[in-house]
Amino acid sequence: MYDDNPTLSGIRKEIDEEKQGEVFFREQTLPEDGGRHFYIESYGCQMNFSDSEIVASILAEVGFSPTREVERADLILINTCSIREKAEETVRKRLRIFDQVKSRRPGTLVGVLGCMAERLKAKLLEEEKLVDLVVGPDAYRDLPALVSTAEEGDKGINVFLSREETYADISPLRLDSNGVTAFISIMRGCDNMCSFCVVPFTRGRERSRNAFSIVAEATDLHRNGYREVTLLGQNVDSYKWENPETGAVVNFAELLEMVAQVDPGLRVRFSTSHPKDITDEVLHTMARHDNICKYIHLPVQSGNSRILELMNRTYDREWYLERVRAIYRILPECAISSDIITGFCSETEDEHQDTLSIMELANYSMSYMFYYSERPGTPAARKLTDDVSMEAKKRRLQDVIRLQNQLSFRHNQADIGKTFEVLIEGDSKRSDEEFKGRNSQNKMIVFPKTPGLKPGEYVRVRVLEATSATLLGVVEK
Ligand code: 5AD
Ligand code: SF4
Repeated sequence: MYDDNPTLSGIRKEIDEEKQGEVFFREQTLPEDGGRHFYIESYGCQMNFSDSEIVASILAEVGFSPTREVERADLILINTCSIREKAEETVRKRLRIFDQVKSRRPGTLVGVLGCMAERLKAKLLEEEKLVDLVVGPDAYRDLPALVSTAEEGDKGINVFLSREETYADISPLRLDSNGVTAFISIMRGCDNMCSFCVVPFTRGRERSRNAFSIVAEATDLHRNGYREVTLLGQNVDSYKWENPETGAVVNFAELLEMVAQVDPGLRVRFSTSHPKDITDEVLHTMARHDNICKYIHLPVQSGNSRILELMNRTYDREWYLERVRAIYRILPECAISSDIITGFCSETEDEHQDTLSIMELANYSMSYMFYYSERPGTPAARKLTDDVSMEAKKRRLQDVIRLQNQLSFRHNQADIGKTFEVLIEGDSKRSDEEFKGRNSQNKMIVFPKTPGLKPGEYVRVRVLEATSATLLGVVEK
């Protein structure tokens, strides 16, 4: 599946754009049937998957029910990603398939949502003749009106980026959910301007969601049986919400604490952290609460200070390593994972070696690894030359993947004999006689079912075996 640009294990859905998009559906949340149906596929980051649940909620309000069968849909939506060229190619392929469905069922509407809609705007309507709707990430409230426009035969387009929209009041329709873990979006957009990245252009300026609406969503999820929430943002450490009534400001550490206090039985995770912004205050908050998971996704991108500067990451190798040391000092049990880009503009072999060495020093439990893909309009595309050959990019990527496999294997082997608290998420992929669940460090553990255990419960599991991707264990009596 990842022959060209592989990630390590595919444990997480994020940036898994080569994967068939997830189809969302959850029976108990269906509105009255008999009306119109929508089908939605999502690609890209967790934020996109979370957005699809907002879209589903908006559509349910106006009488649309979700369907898993594209052939039954009156409205086919594809929530898209622009992060690498490949992500966009995957979406174009899917649009070809939807074209065929449309020719069999005239009147079916096809809509492109998300980052590609934002990046390509009206051009998408010209390039993809059978697309009826183009809706950017801040315009989902307008979907019902845009659908009406398209039904009347006009094209529906809204790619307006907002400075305020956080969809704070919308209760997402939990689609295709395991009923145990859920995402909560806490902020939107990104102000960082990493030179390789399209996100500031597709998702607009950074804005933080009302802290009380976040706590209310977590409380509601817990009441409905959920036992883990992941707080999502492009850069959660810069979360900052000012209460308009009191003027008091809530930062990320404070928000984390508020959500952790919803219930000790509700686990809290978050993603993504930025090395320049993650504070000791956040680390100490994590240390104080057992239910805040000891896992930090801290993308390094490169281990070389010159490349980091060209990437406009605003930290250098030393700064990053200092943050890693702070994490292991304050949270000795914490696992750290990363995103890595190989073959960025002008990267030399020596500089690539710095990436390999920082991976060892940080001892990542896992990484998402990519070769550099130039994105039109980004600072790197405008100011730097994409001059590392594809062959070198891919070879360096293979070095990085090989090393990460070794590190993950070693990291997991070190867990053999240890007992972890695991939140049961459901049956393992392999067998319905086994459960899978994660420990605090976000490692997937598979173990044989024992009578009486159910998804959503915590169980102590002793690890017996480990591969580079999974731990195998038994329930501790
Ligand atoms: N090329 C390759 N990888 C990229 N990423 C973001 N933009 C690019 C690009 N142009 C990677 C980064 C980021 C992750 C979500 O995707 O590693 O952290
Ligand atoms: Fe893809 Fe980035 Fe948009 Fe997420 S924010 S969908 S990763 S381009």
